[in-house]
Formats: sequence, structure tokens, C-alpha cells
Amino acid sequence: MAEIKLGLSMFRMGYHIAAWRHPDVQADGSMDFRHFLRVTTAAERGQFDLVFMADELAIRGRDNPPGALVRQSNGAELEPITLLAALAPMTRHIGLVATGSTTYSEPFNLARQFLSLDHLSGGRAGWNVVTSWGAEDALNFGHLSLPDYALRYERAGEFVDVVRGLWRSWDADAFLRDKRSGLYYDPDKRHVLDHKGKYFAVRGPLHVARSPQDEPVIFCAGDSEPGRDIAAKCADVVFTAKQELDDARAFYASVKSRLSKYGRSADELIIMPGLMPIVGRTRREAEAKHDALQALLDPIVGLASLYDRLGDLSGYPLDGPVPEPRDPAFKSRAEVMYRQAQRENYTIRQLYQAVALGRGHRVVVGTAADIVDQMESWQAAQAADGYNIIPSHLPSGIDDFVDLVVPELQRRELFRRAYEGKTLRENLGLALQKRWNRD
Ligand SMILES: Cc1cc2nc3c(=O)[nH]c(=O)nc-3n(C[C@H](O)[C@H](O)[C@H](O)COP(=O)(O)O)c2cc1C
Repeated sequence: MAEIKLGLSMFRMGYHIAAWRHPDVQADGSMDFRHFLRVTTAAERGQFDLVFMADELAIRGRDNPPGALVRQSNGAELEPITLLAALAPMTRHIGLVATGSTTYSEPFNLARQFLSLDHLSGGRAGWNVVTSWGAEDALNFGHLSLPDYALRYERAGEFVDVVRGLWRSWDADAFLRDKRSGLYYDPDKRHVLDHKGKYFAVRGPLHVARSPQDEPVIFCAGDSEPGRDIAAKCADVVFTAKQELDDARAFYASVKSRLSKYGRSADELIIMPGLMPIVGRTRREAEAKHDALQALLDPIVGLASLYDRLGDLSGYPLDGPVPEPRDPAFKSRAEVMYRQAQRENYTIRQLYQAVALGRGHRVVVGTAADIVDQMESWQAAQAADGYNIIPSHLPSGIDDFVDLVVPELQRRELFRRAYEGKTLRENLGLALQKRWNRD
């Protein structure tokens, strides 16, 4: 079986909503460079391919029920590209991937920032292309609400073409810097994009030299038909949230089958579902870690994670049954969640604990062998080529993974013992040559 690729999604103090309250966690870690350096260094010790930064362009979520927002840690965090640029000289091998929105930025800005990060890191940069969601983001960019879905994806398609065009502004040997002749570059090796499209007019060229890894690595994170299409056209890696194996297999097949439309082969795209491992030396220890985290979840924050689907449940007993949604404003959106509660016989508290835990990603609680069994079976079933690890809390989440799970992956020959290459693209095994010959 091919080796598994690993990313670490380095989200604030971890993905659990109450992570910041955990006794092992530095509560102001999301504003402290040393926290991220500590986490990235641990991931590099474990030979992870990359650290990955999600991003939001606003404090998202409304204060429903009242008091929910002030109990969450999303009011203070660092801008990802700036943070990764600071991490670049402090690390040697690990890839540095940041999310960048195609809805709320201009291609020239993002092309320049990511190519600069690629130079600062010696070829370890990646861009996670998102079209963004959340009404709050829109309000910070002159929109009254989230721009139309189809428009966001149409703009994203053109945006990525422009960025990639700008990244090819210079041949690798364009800069002569010949002090004797006085020539700084060879004009024949400079390419002016001169793009005029529906959304963008960009002349170029970009005033950053060719990427040390030919092009920064492109991630996509979108699930819809247009999301899958754009991934098949331009992504090197797809990040997805899937909890059920059948769902993950169908997604994997759907995205990979679209590649041929763009002249690409299945091995040119890596699919990484998110995975939250809660690992212990024994199952009992893992369950105790899980229970300790869940106990930190404030009921108001828990109820907020149900609000958009089920409405305000704060008047009901937390350890009682989930009431049937009656309000027409919630009825259509509530169905899946209400049925889940019925199926599992969940109380309100158990339902919000289940919903809040993995933020839509798969959670596995157990020993290293349990976790690797799951990783291996999803890979064998063609549901994943790798995983973006979504730690519950940091830094313990990455320390536990590196100390317990990585050795088990290596013992089963599923994961590297040393980095293969110098650049992120080399470590992911994604050569660009085929693509360039086609373009
Ligand atoms: C796994 C995953 C991760 C995402 N991460 C982000 C993110 O960090 N920031 C963001 O603004 N949007 C993020 N998105 C949202 C997408 O950009 C997109 O707006 C949303 O998924 C709706 O498109 P879709 O229906 O194609 O999935 C993410 C989506 C997925 C599936």
C-alpha cells in the first residue's frame, strides 16, 4: 500500500470548542508564536508532511443562545500567512499551508504572498483555496451578505487560473544577475500574463522569481459539484470532512473520476479527510481523555452548536430528550440532526457533545493500534490517501500522535521514517512535469 500522507491542522489551541479551558493548554496560545512553534516542531519531529492553517475573516457565529460567543476562543487569533512566514526559518522540512479566500482577496495579492512564503521556506508553501462561508466575513468586505454560491465558484475558477499564471511569470533561469554585462534578467524568460476576464484584469508579471518547488502546492476544500470540479482541475490535495466510510469512498471516487476530464491521472491528487484522534496507551485512558474534554464544554456553547438547526433549546432539561422541531424556521434544517438524536437515543447534552466534538470531522477514540486500524482501512478502501489530523487540544494532541501513533504507522510500513525530499511537493510525491507538459 502507498505511504500515508499526514497534515496537522494547527487550529488555535485545538479543534475542541473548549480546548482553551483544558488544564494542559495555554489559554492565550492562539496569540503566542511560541505555542505554534512548539506544535510545528513536534509535527516535524513526527515527519508530518505539513501544518495546515484554516482561516476565518471575521468572528463567526451569532450569540445564540446569549452568552455563547464570550465563552469561545475565536475572538483572538493570528493571520496565517504572517504566522507561517515566521515559522519558515525555524523549521526545515515541514510544509506550511495557509487558507486564502478567493471571495475576499485579489489574485495578485495572494499570488505574491504565497510565492514569497515559498521562497522564505525553501519550497514548502501551500495555498488552501476556499470560497469562504459565513455571513460575518461578508460584512468585513463591503457586502451585506455572503455573495451568491455560483458566483463565488465562478470567481474562484478564474482566480486560481490568474494566480497560477502569475506564478509562471519567470522561467527558473530567467534571472542572470550578471554584474559584468549589467543584465539582471533575460527578457525572453519573462512572461506577461495579460489576463482580462470576467472578474479580473491582471497584467503581470509577478515581481517574485520562480517558485523553489515550481509552484506552491494547491489545496482545495469544497464538497459541492463545483467544489469537486475545481479540485479536479487545479488541486494537488483535497481536504474534506467525512465521518462515514461509504460517504468518504463515494467522495474519493467522485473527485478522482473527474481528473481525466482535465487530462490528469489519479495519482496527481491526494485526498485527505480530517481525522480527530483521541489516543491513549489503553482504551480506558483514551476514553478518560475524551470524557475530560467533553466535561469542559459549557452547556451554553453546546446549545449554540445546535441552535442553527434546532433553535433555542435552553428552556429544556439538558439530560432530557431532544424535542421534535416544530418551528417552521428550523424544521427543514433540523431533520438530519433530530433523526441522529432519535437513532442514538441522545439527550440534549449527548447530542451537543457529539456535534461539537469533531466539528464535522471523524473522531476516533482509542489506542494507537485502534487509530492506525481505522486509517489503514480507509486507505485500503480507497477513501483516503492521507489524513489532515485535527487535534482536540494542543500541544498534547500532536505530542500523543507523534509519540504513540507515528511509531505504529511506521511499524506497519505505512509512513516514512525520514523526509524524502526538500520541498513540500517532493515529500508529497507530486511532480509537476506532467502538468506543465499539458498546460
Ligand atoms: C474540510 C473543509 C475545510 C474548509 N475550510 C475553510 C476555511 O478554513 N475557511 C473558509 O472560509 N472556508 C472553509 N471551507 C469552506 C469552503 O470554502 C466553502 O465555502 C464551503 O465548503 C461551501 O462550498 P462547498 O459546498 O463546495 O463545500 C472549508 C470547507 C471544507 C469542506
